Amino acid sequence: MKPADKKAYDKDYAQAKKTGKPFFPYAIFKDTIVAGLVVVATIILAITVRVEVGEPVNPSTTDFVPRPEWYFYFAFELLKIFANQNALTPVIMATFMVPNILIILLVIWPFIDRGPERRIWKRPFAMGMIVLVTGFLCYTTYLGANSPGGVGSGGLPLTGLDEAGTAGMAVYMANGCASCHMVAGVGAPGPGPDLTNFGSKGWDTAKQVAWLKAPNAPMPSYASLPPAELESLANFVNGLGTKYK
Ligand code: HEC
Repeated sequence: MKPADKKAYDKDYAQAKKTGKPFFPYAIFKDTIVAGLVVVATIILAITVRVEVGEPVNPSTTDFVPRPEWYFYFAFELLKIFANQNALTPVIMATFMVPNILIILLVIWPFIDRGPERRIWKRPFAMGMIVLVTGFLCYTTYLGANSPGGVGSGGLPLTGLDEAGTAGMAVYMANGCASCHMVAGVGAPGPGPDLTNFGSKGWDTAKQVAWLKAPNAPMPSYASLPPAELESLANFVNGLGTKYK
């Protein structure tokens, strides 16, 4: 603080101390009343307004599309921004690095911005930061809220899907393959390999069915699927990147 500012501040402070009201009991009293009103209002709302929690959980569903609560949409979007590298990078960046950098900035800001000025238009840099960070959070929240549903909602963005291909894709989506594999940018980046161009390996139906029945861990066995579905799935996967791309 500059000496002139300090003098003005001391003067203001002495003045306020002489004429103002002490924190205890005046401010405490007001806070208690407001806090009490909020509690009473919450109790009244809890009793009078019934809030639906949503559909009952169906533990046997296979096409559930997990989506976060609205206040996590920004992190949901961040996960997508950092996707496609490996399984860990998006998690570390979106749930640890970026949020913590923002929080650390918030905590150290009073130590960086030491000026006595309180008026908004006299603090362009601090205000600019607020607008920037808030804008970033709003924008990623908007993107997250509107991004195409996670895995499982709309199928895969493939061309060349004939009747057999569509049926095979339905089996693929219904059995959670996309929770471990990526095809054409849809699905999880791991732990299974990206299957977008799997067809170029030239596996035949029998080889694929055998793999699906007895794959390497951690991929689960699909031996319990009906034979027709297994075959349809096998032909679909074998056609990825060649027939269906
Ligand atoms: C729990 C995760 C998981 C699920 C679910 C899963 N996979 Fe896999 N999948 C893997 C992993 C891991 C590998 C690599 C295994 C290896 O090569 O040793 C793999 C390998 C494959 C391969 C061979 C890829 C190659 O290039 O050799 C195919 C094909 C495949 N999976 C198809 C499917 C299909 C189709 C489904 C759904 C019916 C499915 N996977 C479900 C994890 C999974």
